[in-house]
Amino acid sequence: MAMARLASEHEASGRRVLHLEVGQPATPAPSLARRAAVEAIESKNALGYTNAPGLQSLRRRIAAHYAEHYSAAVDAEAVQVVAGASAGFTLAFLACFDAGQRVGVVEPGYPCYRNTLIALGIEAVPVPVGAPTRWAPTAELLDEAGHLDGLVVASPSNPTGTVLDDAALSALVLHCERRGIRLIADEIYHGITYGGAAPSVLAHTADAVVINSFSKYYSMTGWRLGWMVVPDGLHDAVERLQQNLFICAPHVSQVAGLAAFECRAELDAHVERYARHRRLLIDGLAAAGIADIAEADGAFYVYADVAAVLAARGVGTSMALCRTWLDELGVASTPGLDFDLARGNDFVRFSYAGDPADIAQACTLLGGWLA
Ligand SMILES: Cc1ncc(COP(=O)(O)O)c(C=O)c1O
Repeated sequence: MAMARLASEHEASGRRVLHLEVGQPATPAPSLARRAAVEAIESKNALGYTNAPGLQSLRRRIAAHYAEHYSAAVDAEAVQVVAGASAGFTLAFLACFDAGQRVGVVEPGYPCYRNTLIALGIEAVPVPVGAPTRWAPTAELLDEAGHLDGLVVASPSNPTGTVLDDAALSALVLHCERRGIRLIADEIYHGITYGGAAPSVLAHTADAVVINSFSKYYSMTGWRLGWMVVPDGLHDAVERLQQNLFICAPHVSQVAGLAAFECRAELDAHVERYARHRRLLIDGLAAAGIADIAEADGAFYVYADVAAVLAARGVGTSMALCRTWLDELGVASTPGLDFDLARGNDFVRFSYAGDPADIAQACTLLGGWLA
């Protein structure tokens, strides 16, 4: 956020910024979703509150999505429509854990898991992962974190892009079952992968809480719409929490979300574009001298180890490096510290969700600076 704010200040002062810090699609919601929203707004429908778990038509459509794409049987009653994955985390953490319990968060990982857990009085326990396990959490790494009541994993992950395959998911599920760990799976980047689809944890267990969203693949960040698949025994708790904390997800967004399921060709074209941008960025960074990167199997980020750059240029931290690149080159990127409190000072996250011309120019400028 600090970098995004600095980038905006640079732009406000008339400087051009190449945006490699963005965490969202540059494209609008798919056309049928926009049309459905316009029709709903212009109709006589009051668009008032929906039921707490969401429009029944949307819950049924989401359940059908699991049958279509994952061969997983999901009951519409298990689907809770929420105001983005972010609301889903709050609901899941409150329904699953008590204050003082210990929940593992993979590091590097999306920082809001840690911050939300802490805000709710739940202990966020770092589970450090790295290149030796392809940036994936394993049973051994989880055991090293000590006793855990819960675990949050994302596949594909932000910032590394790592996809957990069926073998990795099944090993994690088994480990969690043996140790009594409640698994929360963030599948928000599903649909954005470059080597086969990411499997859902629901193919391996009915006991995990799955959180997904319209923000990334469906290109609808500002519509604030997501969903949870909630295991038996937690439906009532999640629904009551939703009713009390949020009442419901935005009604017009639910109407648009339902239509978004019919836009796969348009959305898959975005993914094809991300695949081209990914190649452009990985090759461009390598040519610039930044080649030590995580797997980037999915999502739209490259997480790069810049320790050698810091040492060579006498820069202390990735935060200082990102500031220097912004000030001197107009290249905005994200320092790793947010994603990994212990090791993030040696890493930078670059996003390829934005403009390919920005990506190409940024790599050229970084190459000149590094040379
Ligand atoms: C891994 C991950 N989960 C969740 C979110 C937030 O999702 P939403 O917009 O659905 O609240 C993000 C946003 O960047 C993310 O990267």
